[in-house]
Amino acid sequence: MYSKKVMEHFMNPMNAGEIENADGTGIAGNMICGDVMQIFIKVKKSAGGNGKHDIIEDIKFKTMGCAAAIATSSMITEIARGKTIEEGLKITKADVADALDGLPPIKMHCSNLASDALAEAIYDYFSKNKYEISEGLKKAHERIKQERDYAEGLGEK
Ligand code: FES
Repeated sequence: MYSKKVMEHFMNPMNAGEIENADGTGIAGNMICGDVMQIFIKVKKSAGGNGKHDIIEDIKFKTMGCAAAIATSSMITEIARGKTIEEGLKITKADVADALDGLPPIKMHCSNLASDALAEAIYDYFSKNKYEISEGLKKAHERIKQERDYAEGLGEK
C-alpha cells in the first residue's frame, strides 16, 4: 500500500525534533483524523528586505499522526531545506507526495499537513519580522487556523 520511500521516511524520519528559538513555527491539523504537525524553521536573511529571498537554513518537525503524516513531514523538511521562503511557499502537497513516489489516494489528505504547516511557519516568520504578507498567504492562514482549531478539539475528546 505504501511506497518504499514512504516506509523509509516513516521508519527513519529525517529532521525530526524541535528548533530552539526558531524564527518561525507553524502548526497544521487535519480535520478528518485530528492529526497535528508542527514545523520549525531557522531562516537566514538576505538582501532585499521583503523576506521572500531569505533562506530556510534549518527545518525540523514534530508530528502526531499516521505513517503518511510522518513520512510527508520528513520529506518536506528535505525539500524545503536550503530553499528561499518564496520557493518554500510554492511546495504543494502534490510535490511532497510525488517525492515519496506517491501516496495511496485515501492518504493524500495527510500530505496537506506538511505544506500547510510550512506555510504557517512562514506566515509566523513574516509576522514576527513585519514583512508584508500576501493575500493568498493570509487566506491560507485563516483556513489552516480553522482546521487546526477543529483538529485540536478532536484531540481533546
Ligand atoms: S490519517 Fe491523519 S494525517 Fe494521515
